[in-house]
Amino acid sequence: MKISYQKIAHYAYTKLLVSAFALLGLVSCTEDPNSPGVEFMPDMYRSIGYEAYLKKFDVDSTDFFERNLKKLGYEESADSAKSAIISEVKELYDIFKSGIVTRKPVVGSVAQGKKPFMIAKGNRDNAKSVKMPIPYSETSLFEGKSYYEIFCDHCHGEKGDGGGTLVKKDLFLKPPSYNVGTTKDLSAGEIYYTIYYGKGMMGSHSSQITEEKRWKIVQYVQTLQGNKIEELQGGKVPVNPVVSDTTVTDYI
Ligand code: HEC
Repeated sequence: MKISYQKIAHYAYTKLLVSAFALLGLVSCTEDPNSPGVEFMPDMYRSIGYEAYLKKFDVDSTDFFERNLKKLGYEESADSAKSAIISEVKELYDIFKSGIVTRKPVVGSVAQGKKPFMIAKGNRDNAKSVKMPIPYSETSLFEGKSYYEIFCDHCHGEKGDGGGTLVKKDLFLKPPSYNVGTTKDLSAGEIYYTIYYGKGMMGSHSSQITEEKRWKIVQYVQTLQGNKIEELQGGKVPVNPVVSDTTVTDYI
């Protein structure tokens, strides 16, 4: 029988390859069940994570080192690893003085597509002359009514007389009726100011209602004050406001 050297070589080669893989498999196992074993470029998987809500720069805390020691693959004693981690981490955290990576917006920033309310809190008188930016129409009044029913009705009542469900059930202080006394004379800007900042027991509604919806609610409240749509369209509200204080204290 003729033995082919080629066949033997092929057989040996296959055996060698299989054992090499088996050996590799064994070597890459570790005792730690949580360890992924031998990794190619481990620092690419395990980097120092920014601590998004870190209260202050705390590279000196033991907890911080313990958490990062293994993660960064330092096998040395805690002390020598500590100095290595300090230099790695400090560089990142020094950029943000407070240590908090998630930044607050710069004071006075306005979110995209939002307009600030130019009347500062406490300057209610200046709100008197703020102009209604949305034209009065049946549609905007209709929309205002539906928003009113969602956000105001339960206290102020369907007719704006202060007889909302919460008041009827004795769960909240009765608000004044919209169409009597000084409340009847509140201008669009003043009503908007009240929605924006709140008044007395009534809290601010600026975070839950967008600017456009607030103005539409104002339009509807104006009808509850007893104004007819034609009167409102006729410019009962001042057209050219003189706003003396334009300090921006908040953004919508
Ligand atoms: C949780 C109950 C409650 C809700 C909800 C509420 N209000 Fe009021 N509102 C009050 C109370 C109470 C007052 C009286 C505050 C005071 O004079 O101290 C008031 C007062 C007012 C005034 C008169 C302010 C002034 O300057 O005299 C207006 C206008 C007003 N609310 C509009 C609204 C509008 C519009 C909404 C809906 C977006 C609304 N309120 C939602 C309870 C509420």
